[in-house]
Amino acid sequence: MCGIVGYIGNKEAYPIILNGLKRLEYRGYDSAGVALYDGTTIQMAKTKGKVADLEARVAKEIATSGKLGIGHTRWATHGVPNDINSHPHYSNSGDLVIIHNGIIENYASIKKELINRGYTFKSDTDTEVLVNLIEEIKKKENVKLGKAVQIALNQVIGAYAIVLFDRNKPDEIVVAKLGSPLAIGIGDEEFFVASDATPFIEFTNNAIYLEDEEMAIIRLKKGVKVRKIKDDSLVDPYIQELQLNLEQIEKGGYDHFMLKEIYEQPSVIKDTYRGRLLADQGIIRLGGLEDHIKKFTNAQRIIIVACGTSWHAGLVAEYIFEEWARIPVEVEYASEFRYRNPIISDKDVVIAISQSGETADTLAAIKLAKQRGAFVYGVCNVVGSTISRETDSGTYTHAGPEIGVASTKAFTTQITVLTMIALRLAKDKGSISQSDYMKHLRELEMIPTLVSEALKEEEKIKEIAAVFKDARNFLYLGRGYNFPVALEGALKLKEISYIHAEGYPAAEMKHGPIALIDEQMPVVVIAVNSNHYEKVVSNIEEIKARKGKIIAVVTEGDTEVKELADYIMEVPRTPESLSPLVTTIPLQLLSYHIALMLGKNVDQPRNLAKSVTVE
Ligand code: AGP
Ligand code: GLU
Repeated sequence: MCGIVGYIGNKEAYPIILNGLKRLEYRGYDSAGVALYDGTTIQMAKTKGKVADLEARVAKEIATSGKLGIGHTRWATHGVPNDINSHPHYSNSGDLVIIHNGIIENYASIKKELINRGYTFKSDTDTEVLVNLIEEIKKKENVKLGKAVQIALNQVIGAYAIVLFDRNKPDEIVVAKLGSPLAIGIGDEEFFVASDATPFIEFTNNAIYLEDEEMAIIRLKKGVKVRKIKDDSLVDPYIQELQLNLEQIEKGGYDHFMLKEIYEQPSVIKDTYRGRLLADQGIIRLGGLEDHIKKFTNAQRIIIVACGTSWHAGLVAEYIFEEWARIPVEVEYASEFRYRNPIISDKDVVIAISQSGETADTLAAIKLAKQRGAFVYGVCNVVGSTISRETDSGTYTHAGPEIGVASTKAFTTQITVLTMIALRLAKDKGSISQSDYMKHLRELEMIPTLVSEALKEEEKIKEIAAVFKDARNFLYLGRGYNFPVALEGALKLKEISYIHAEGYPAAEMKHGPIALIDEQMPVVVIAVNSNHYEKVVSNIEEIKARKGKIIAVVTEGDTEVKELADYIMEVPRTPESLSPLVTTIPLQLLSYHIALMLGKNVDQPRNLAKSVTVE
């Protein structure tokens, strides 16, 4: 998974490529590179490190003229992150230059064959193998670049979004896609290609999202021709008008995207239900759901597939769906589901949750469920993403671009969508009373205000972060609806501060983790008003008896837990079923401030990438 960007047109390519890479850096950031072509000389610079390191290297080492350019920010799969393995890669003749997002699974056998034919390799990447395979085919079959790419891609197994050009064709770039995203921006006598539309949004609103197994030849004067890789047939591409604006993807005065995204939650939760939830009229109307309600209400069960934070949102949904809509729910890690021959039939509805809409495991789970006849519904944030297109129908979360690698606003907007779906199904099934239904609609409408209230605790949370920033381990405990919040709180801390943290259902503690508790162990307990309140209080007593340090998330005005806990983070009173939308806020802020105090890169934590488009 990585970010790729390309340009061909009348402007200087370098500033566009560089800026585009900065916007795509969330996709991968262990190394970066750029190639620029002015029709005479190809200039290339590559470096281990971030796009800023690339910028410095370019300033020192190469001329930046050229109206054709390609750039890459890498997340290594084959070969360590170093200068040589960074993209772009040349073919042996030096004529072809490629950037690639994805994995060529059968690269080893192709490489062996090419070595037998005299090819040599500088890098350890699968990508360099692909560009040489294309070169070999181009020479052997005596065909043009586009044709050679098509033949080569029919021989490779794996996933890719590629962009390449030929020294002998300064007015042409060739792109192709299978499994990794690729958008083509259509400007006025200029074309852009990128992993998503953010690199070119200030230049054009018109984009083609290539489908899997499609390639395009982009010629400066002649425009874009899209073909099917399998049979070379021409495709009439759909040109989509994009709604994204530039302000939405910049930091807007915050130090980090993560903090900006945490603070955006009141407004994006509102954006997510706006026009869909009309509390006064007792209406929930979700475009993607209307025609398929019967599929859900008749379903023998709902299976939710997702990864990471999206999986946690799925766990919250399990409680909500079962309580209100009375439909059995199973929540599965997409990566496990896809390989375990699950029992699925056309009586099941599968909900796939994904912020990026590009997660490879979730996508594979969707394909499997579809093959076996299930109806698959998507809950995605990125409009036009692969998962949003692969699912039978779905609802977008309206969180706007989420750039921080640690997911925050995606989580709360996913829960918002899933809550609306559950309520709508409950109403149609008659599994809740009309008065409860109306009450829940009004409560959901109040959530943005309550999230704003919860955000006001930041200063206090900062103080708590300062006390515990040097702890090596954390436990997070919650029950019922707040068990998934405990998991999510622990994941946030791990991801950005690199402190080991585990989430547990509070009652499970006595079956093992309690052995870990001593005076060094901070235990974050979600102890808001709920059916389990007294039970959680007992769990807190058990921790206290073993001298653990208790940081409790409590309901405003709480007195009982306040007495017991070492530190408290208050949240406004919420009905239990909606409490995850609020209790998750202090945990996001706690991990943010701990990571910040430890000097970690909050937006781009080590080893992670924003969208995991490889297995
Ligand atoms: C969240 O903080 C993570 N970075 C990660 O677990 C993420 O939620 C997961 O990779 C799933 O991504 P998706 O929602 O884009 O499918
Ligand atoms: N497989 C390629 C590599 O390791 C591309 C990885 C990526 O998508 O960044 O270089």
